[in-house]
Amino acid sequence: MKYKNIVFQVEEGIATITFNRPEVLNALNAESLEEFSLALGEIVEDEDVRVLVLTGAGEKSFVAGADIKEFPTFNALKAKMYSEMGHDAIDKLQELPIPVIAAVNGYALGGGCEVAIACDFIYASENAMLGLPEINLGIIPGFGGTQRLPRLVGTNMAKEMIFTGKMVPAQEANKMGLVNKVCTQEQLMNEVNKTAKAIASKGKVSMRAAKQAINNGMNVDLNTGCRIETEAFALCLASPDAKEGAYAFLEKREANFTGGYTS
Ligand code: COA
Repeated sequence: MKYKNIVFQVEEGIATITFNRPEVLNALNAESLEEFSLALGEIVEDEDVRVLVLTGAGEKSFVAGADIKEFPTFNALKAKMYSEMGHDAIDKLQELPIPVIAAVNGYALGGGCEVAIACDFIYASENAMLGLPEINLGIIPGFGGTQRLPRLVGTNMAKEMIFTGKMVPAQEANKMGLVNKVCTQEQLMNEVNKTAKAIASKGKVSMRAAKQAINNGMNVDLNTGCRIETEAFALCLASPDAKEGAYAFLEKREANFTGGYTS
């Protein structure tokens, strides 16, 4: 077992990474970030993985942020390297070609919130609390929070969260559009796995194209985004899965998608 701070498993095309330092509410130290990044690399290499789920060990916390115990030893250079390490891991997460669901089972604070908002969407347990409390420590978010949160919930909502450092309960986060679904703690993984299975049953080519079109389109103007969609649509329609999808519909049967770009 090469990972100490995370648990990484793959079952029926669904990969799960569990942040696993429950004694410190799964806080991210440098070693956890390295392991997280390595596991993401494994996922990129494995074409059979169709969906990734992220969660935290225990019932109290997803990830309660960067490991504050490491902070007092940092000088500016070390802090810059640490932030870059977080950005690299979270960029890698966001750029995964497959959908990623965050199963937020408790506190998602600081770096934990930044990991969650870089996922494609979040399901949360009723006891979950999300927030960027760095201001209370005399710092600011350093793994993309000041950039991704405003894009997700709007500038003013993000400013209020970042300026006050307040923790937002799951139901409120749901109303803000930060969390897609709120479940009981017992139901959270069932609900996440149900959605992950539904996603894993779709065509590999179209799923990747959909994610790429949305992500790339969000960084450009609408016209350019629509051009990106046209290119991705053409690639999908020319794929064997598109023929199978159409024939399956016409023959009134379930589609059997095999993936691949050419027949
Ligand atoms: N880094 C390092 N250790 C952390 C941590 C973090 N981000 N968050 C929690 N822990 C540790 C605590 O130090 C404590 O360890 P100890 O038992 O050795 O004292 C353990 O996890 C349990 O946390 P505790 O604070 O006792 O639990 P709580 O239920 O009273 O409070 C929180 C939970 C999440 C509200 C509180 O732990 C907290 O505010 N954590 C920091 C959140 C934060 O600021 N994150 C952003 C960091 S940039």
